[in-house]
Amino acid sequence: MRAVLLTGYGDVGKLELQDVPEPVAGPGELKVRMLSSSVNPVDWKLRSGAYRQRTPLELPVILGRDASGEVVAVGEGSRGLQVGAKVIGLVDHAFAEYVVASENAWAELPAELDPVDAGALPLVVLTGAQLIEEAVRPRPGEVVLVTGAVGSVGRAAVFAARERGAEVIAAVRAQQREEAAKLKVDVVALDDATELQRLPRLDAIADTVGGDALAKLIPKVKPGGTIGSVLGEPAGARERGLAVRAHFTHPDSKRLAALARAAAEKRLAIPIARRMPLAEIRAAQTLAERGAGGKIVVRIG
Ligand SMILES: NC(=O)c1ccc[n+]([C@@H]2O[C@H](COP(=O)([O-])OP(=O)(O)OC[C@H]3O[C@@H](n4cnc5c(N)ncnc54)[C@H](OP(=O)(O)O)[C@@H]3O)[C@@H](O)[C@H]2O)c1
Repeated sequence: MRAVLLTGYGDVGKLELQDVPEPVAGPGELKVRMLSSSVNPVDWKLRSGAYRQRTPLELPVILGRDASGEVVAVGEGSRGLQVGAKVIGLVDHAFAEYVVASENAWAELPAELDPVDAGALPLVVLTGAQLIEEAVRPRPGEVVLVTGAVGSVGRAAVFAARERGAEVIAAVRAQQREEAAKLKVDVVALDDATELQRLPRLDAIADTVGGDALAKLIPKVKPGGTIGSVLGEPAGARERGLAVRAHFTHPDSKRLAALARAAAEKRLAIPIARRMPLAEIRAAQTLAERGAGGKIVVRIG
């Protein structure tokens, strides 16, 4: 099969389209013929070596976390999805024509969703939802500020926080205010000091941005409040008596199925900026890294 191999840490020049053997479905696994994947920030963080300490790679390796395609083989003991099912999944090694992953990675694709565009969903929707449900855990009526709220993970976090009945504040760049207003929640510009001063006391922050943007929000969280982040623990938050939880996303078939249904019913939207073929993975990653204003879908099948 054709796959994109990362041959060494570095820039996009280290990504090479090559022929490699097809993976085989083991017990409890499904093999999927890929229709699409998408680019995520973790792809270039792994590629560049920025995550070398945290997640060392055995090179060469096929990167890519998102999968959309059709089941072509079912490993021994798998009970759920059958050959022929259209699925999406949070997997490893997705920039390839075939992917094998545990049953729990996959969810049935709702018929209303475009199967190519659905490749944009798994990692970002699960991350946003798990950030809220596992790290922030808001109660109804609590005020939760979501940083990067018009980013892909941020949109899913806003969705999941509202689903739980939280009062959501979308924290974005000033230039993103208009886009954020479409989410129909309160909006604050992180680069506007006056707006930040006027923020109410927060019960929690669901963070998808990290760094200075998060640091200046920490004093706004009430004593005993919570910070959940997908970018590791922010410095100085625990010392203030806040509950701090760094979240790392994991596969969850049931939750992914429910989020896919929400997308099919247009209750959750993840904008797509471009669709590009697997052969153009270098350009796709370059575009995404510069900021494409939406997901870059990678067409495979
Ligand atoms: N821990 C995990 O398991 C996990 C899983 C998935 C993703 N992540 C991480 O989550 C982060 C978000 O991913 P994503 O796919 O949602 O990316 P994305 O779609 O690019 O969204 C990021 C959003 O944050 C905004 N932003 C960045 N810096 C900002 C700042 N200083 N002030 C205000 N807004 C700022 C961006 O605006 P601009 O476009 O204008 O910069 C964009 O709207 C990434 O760092 C990714 O690596 C972690």
